[in-house]
Parts: sequence; C-alpha cells; structure tokens
Amino acid sequence: RTYPFFPATAAIAREDIAWQGETIRAGCRVILDIYGTNRDARYWDDPDTFSPARFLGAEKDPYAFIPQGAGDHPVTHRCPGEWLTLRIMECFTRILQEELRWRLVDPEVDLNYSALPALPKDALKISV
Ligand code: HEM
Repeated sequence: RTYPFFPATAAIAREDIAWQGETIRAGCRVILDIYGTNRDARYWDDPDTFSPARFLGAEKDPYAFIPQGAGDHPVTHRCPGEWLTLRIMECFTRILQEELRWRLVDPEVDLNYSALPALPKDALKISV
C-alpha cells in the first residue's frame, strides 16, 4: 500500500466520459494516482503508517486499496496477478520471519518515484 512500485498508471479516453460531474473528452490522458489513493486520509486512518494490522478482518475497499489497480478484476484492468503476488509475499514474509536471520545493509533506501517501476536505485540489499 505505502510503496507501490507502480505509483501511477495512465490511459487515453477512447470516448467522452462523464465522471463525478466532469467530462473527460475522448483523446484526453487520464492518470490513476495509485500512490496518492493508497495514502488518501479519506480512506485510511494514519495513512502514512505501515500497519499490517489495519487489514485484519477488514473488507478492503476495491477503489481505495489499489497497489495493483482498482475495481473488480473481471471488469477493470486490475492486475490479474494480484492473488499470485499476495501468495508470494505471504511465503516470502514467512521465510524472512522464520527461516532467515538477516539485516538491511543500508536502512536508508532511496526510492525514485519518477521512474517506473519505482524501485530502490541499487536494489534492496540484505545480508544473511
Ligand atoms: C507486486 C507485484 C505486482 C504489482 C504491483 C502489479 C501492478 C499492476 C498494476 C498497477 C497494473 C495496472 C492496473 C490498471 O491498469 O488498472 C497491473 C496490470 C497487470 N498485471 Fe500486475 N502487478 C504485479 C504482479 C503481477 C503478476 C505476478 C502478474 C502475472 C502473473 C501480473 C500481470 C498483470 C497483467 C497481465 C496486467 C494487465 C491487466 C489488464 O490490462 O487488463 N502482475 N499490474
């Protein structure tokens, strides 16, 4: 949620669209602000805090929690790899917690959000 490596996605409207009282003309570029939406204080308490516990038992709003796109997968372009990604993250988190003793080589990780994907310049290095 807090560090999406796709901070934004872009598209071009194929036809005129009425959206929340605005008209988006055909040919206009539209940006989905993934970083901003995932930290929007209207949807997230204490939005800049990394707090996995906030998700316990909570239904995720498909238009507020959007690291992999928004809405319903069958209808929108929301990432079809989302469940696979979540499973990989669960497995990797378990390995980090239970099977490895590790530390960050450099705790000051510099993320460049002007590049896509937004990844640490020299990767995220850990020593084990
Ligand atoms: C951390 C991992 C990943 C992130 C952050 C991510 C993020 C995204 C985002 C932001 C989009 C665009 C959504 C939109 O346009 O509304 C997308 C689309 C897509 N992703 Fe992922 N993704 C990840 C992993 C994967 C994996 C593992 C797969 C395949 C196994 C995958 C396959 C796709 C495909 C095919 C699309 C295009 C869907 C479409 O345009 O209809 N992604 N992803």
